[in-house]
Amino acid sequence: MAPYGPESNNNGTLQIGYSVDDERGSNAASLDPKLPLLQEADLRDKVVLLRVDHNVVKKGKILDQYRIDVTLPTMFNIVQRGGRLIVMTHIGRPFDKKNKSITISSDDSVDAVVAYLQRKLRIKFVVPEFHHSDKDGILDIDTSINWLIHDLRSRKIGGVYLPNTRWFAGEEDKGEKMERFVVQLAGLADVYVNDAFGSWQSHASTYHIAKYLPSFAGLCMQDELSNVKAVLEPKRPFVAIVAGAKYDTKIGPLTEIYKKVDKLILGGVIYNTYLCAKYDISIAGVQESDIDLARGLVELDKKQKKVLDLPLLVESDTLDGRYKNKFRTISIEEFQAGKEYKYIVDVDPASFESGEVRESLSSAKAIFVNAVMGLMPHFWHGTSKMDEVIDRNTGAQKLFGGGDTLQVFKSLHPGLYHEALDSPKYYLFTGGGTVLKVIEEGNPFGLDTVKALINGHKDKL
Ligand code: 3PG
Ligand code: MG
Repeated sequence: MAPYGPESNNNGTLQIGYSVDDERGSNAASLDPKLPLLQEADLRDKVVLLRVDHNVVKKGKILDQYRIDVTLPTMFNIVQRGGRLIVMTHIGRPFDKKNKSITISSDDSVDAVVAYLQRKLRIKFVVPEFHHSDKDGILDIDTSINWLIHDLRSRKIGGVYLPNTRWFAGEEDKGEKMERFVVQLAGLADVYVNDAFGSWQSHASTYHIAKYLPSFAGLCMQDELSNVKAVLEPKRPFVAIVAGAKYDTKIGPLTEIYKKVDKLILGGVIYNTYLCAKYDISIAGVQESDIDLARGLVELDKKQKKVLDLPLLVESDTLDGRYKNKFRTISIEEFQAGKEYKYIVDVDPASFESGEVRESLSSAKAIFVNAVMGLMPHFWHGTSKMDEVIDRNTGAQKLFGGGDTLQVFKSLHPGLYHEALDSPKYYLFTGGGTVLKVIEEGNPFGLDTVKALINGHKDKL
């Protein structure tokens, strides 16, 4: 086994990290042996197209840099081994599915990320500008980028950071626009590395590109894929807490997670929807079609009794603030069939101290959290209490996942969040949606973006 640390390769340059010939890295044992790893790529003087999930910007500002920080080892590894970096990420959802139009706005630009990276790495990144149309976004990567690639290869600049991938017409397209974009992207680089665990949707920059370039999993991707095992094969009792704004997108993973858990706690609109189905009530903002979907889970749970009711909830007349006399705590014990409720915007913190909920959270050996309980920024009290109660269970493996989950965890408990980053009792996944997707697939290597790395590789080397 090669020593971990600096060593000399055949070119006489220093190499940090694993010797590629000898081992695949510390996580390799839990990774699919067919998954091509960054450590195995020949990077010397190669232009490397690196897809990351730096989707951390809201209204032009970085909310939490965690998703950027976890990709720094990959960037360092690439540059240190002689690769030249072209980085890309999506930010937000600038494509409007209804109107089929892309809105290009500084709110969703990569500029804040680039400024942060430059401060951290002291490397100059250049963001190229491309012509865009009013509705369709950027149709082509025009050849003006060749100058930049030239400067990149000759080391005049440290890296190129492409504009938001979702500003490109081809990113989410499935036809001609996608093909055109992917070929243009592939033309920029020699090697493709995917380090964007959180970006599980198969788009041009996360999936199709792997058909055209030798493709490898980055270091963050490898860590996430090996840690997700703790959710797939959890220690028991295993409690999952899942919340979200829409029931329909979570129904698939919820059904699968239900099979795996000993207890399930729901929050947000998902919980409201479940309550409507279970108690035959209506709650403002909950869609009838979603209630139909939730009935299946209610039926299933009549027998298995895994879903824990959070008994006290916060009802509010408005969504935009916490106004005196406009919100109140209600109890599910008082629910009457047919009754209509206003917005349910949070869980009353006392719910987490109530009998079965507290007991389950304090006796669990593994807890997975992909949840913000209340409507932020005003209704944070339920989430804050949830984090506290989970932390009190010092023996449990605590697995938090997802951009929103982590951002809110950090803003409510900054000290605890920083401890969690280094604590073996916590693991923070960059993508909550991806972890749910993995649970749905039953296998981390079943993710389309990972399959693309495995399948699309060999014939291109
Ligand atoms: C996220 O923030 O959840 C990921 O970056 C994925 O974003 P998406 O759900 O818009 O694809
Ligand atoms: Mg998300």
